[in-house]
Amino acid sequence: MGPLFCPRSITVRPKKIYIKTFGCQMNEHDSSKVLEILHHYPCEETADLHEADLVFINTCTVREKAEQKAYSTLGRLKRLKREKKVIIGVGGCLAQQKGADLLDRFSCLDFVLGTHNLHRLPDVIEGCQNTGNRWCETCFHDRAPSMEVTPLGQLRARAYVTIMQGCDNFCSYCIVPMVRGPERSRPAPQILEEVRRLAEKGVKEITLLGQNVNSYGKGLDGEMTFPALLGAVSRIEGIRRVRFTTSHPKDLSLDLIACFRDLPGLCEHLHLPFQSGSNRVLKAMNRGYTREAYMEKVDRLREVRPDMAITADVLVGFPGEGEKDFEATMDLIERVRFDGLFSFRYSARGGTAAADFPGQIPEAVKRGRLKVLQERQRCITREKNEEMVGNIERVLVEGRSQRNPNDMMGRARTNRIVNFPGEGRLVGEEVWVRIVKGFANSLRGEITPSRPMVRAVGRL
Ligand code: SAH
Ligand code: SF4
Ligand code: F3S
Repeated sequence: MGPLFCPRSITVRPKKIYIKTFGCQMNEHDSSKVLEILHHYPCEETADLHEADLVFINTCTVREKAEQKAYSTLGRLKRLKREKKVIIGVGGCLAQQKGADLLDRFSCLDFVLGTHNLHRLPDVIEGCQNTGNRWCETCFHDRAPSMEVTPLGQLRARAYVTIMQGCDNFCSYCIVPMVRGPERSRPAPQILEEVRRLAEKGVKEITLLGQNVNSYGKGLDGEMTFPALLGAVSRIEGIRRVRFTTSHPKDLSLDLIACFRDLPGLCEHLHLPFQSGSNRVLKAMNRGYTREAYMEKVDRLREVRPDMAITADVLVGFPGEGEKDFEATMDLIERVRFDGLFSFRYSARGGTAAADFPGQIPEAVKRGRLKVLQERQRCITREKNEEMVGNIERVLVEGRSQRNPNDMMGRARTNRIVNFPGEGRLVGEEVWVRIVKGFANSLRGEITPSRPMVRAVGRL
């Protein structure tokens, strides 16, 4: 992949990048890849917008609100552009969706990079510098070269590793397949090599990342299945914990459920979005499962790991959702008792099937339903956190607590945040912590030298 042009005179390259990220873990990870790509440029991150000579906004468009947030951030940058010499670019899913329209709308923008084009950043920056032209690159690649970038800049105890790009599911409400392209898995040898490199640098926890990780391997002839990949990752020396996100219930096989019983390194937490508890709505969403099938899978997971934490995403106010459908969602929440829930008001996205469905629900109704759902879930999460009191949890220490500098913060294997009094030298270590209090969003504990009695492990 050569440069866009032959630069005659290279002007001064940007040295400091200010990067702002909206959206999901995929976007967060892409931003780390941007920093890694530019680190070799060389260009380092700054948290001070006014110190930056390069500004990059990594956008999301999954809901209308995400789109509006990106626009207001870009709007505010107009002044910066007037005040100083700075290159301003936009990337991510909104950039992919809107392309050159963003250049028309925001005069301060120098470039637009789509989701598969992050590797072009150095060349595009130089193009802007040397020609004064504005650039837009949004073509899809069969395998985006940035899939192979390993962010090594600010390594911590845990790291994300991309195992696939895109999505072929086309849930009727969702813009992601349009802006991230078709599903493509990354060959296992590359993934395992990346994990080995991270482990050598002291990373202890790996989260395998993709829109729909449990259909990993589709289109890769003779490659590993997802359960086999999980096994191989968890056997790499130095890797103590493995997680993966996001999973689609229709692709959660018995083999994969069995991994939670058979792989000691696989953490007992699964994020398994259900989106709605109504079969009628699930069908209109094109989700490919019923509420009964979803709950059956949850039961299986809890059979093999009684201490399994399950979190999910859910939507309210999908077109045509009646009171009865909403009650079915609330009923599913009551039955499953999720450890945590991300809940959203449905937001029509242009280009998706559901945007043209009849029966769009008024915002006030959506808001009312979301409030009911969130209040109920808040109680369930708190109750479940309170039930943890007395447990001894294995906690991977991530850093100092934001609230109290005398406390350390880490995560239990169930992904719950645990704060406890401790010293800075514990960062990156796994410690045993006795839970003394459960709150709405976290646990409080005390370090203990003892490990718990044998954990209960069920059968499939
Ligand atoms: N690939 C993941 C995540 C997709 S986006 C998955 O399939 O689970 C993250 C969440 O945003 C989705 O799970 C869904 O709950 C929510 N979402 C997607 N499209 C939306 C829309 N149009 N309006 C509101 N929420 C949406
Ligand atoms: Fe969107 Fe559905 Fe794909 Fe998830 S599985 S990214 S919700 S289309
Ligand atoms: Fe993620 Fe938003 Fe794109 S949720 S995949 S950044 S549209």
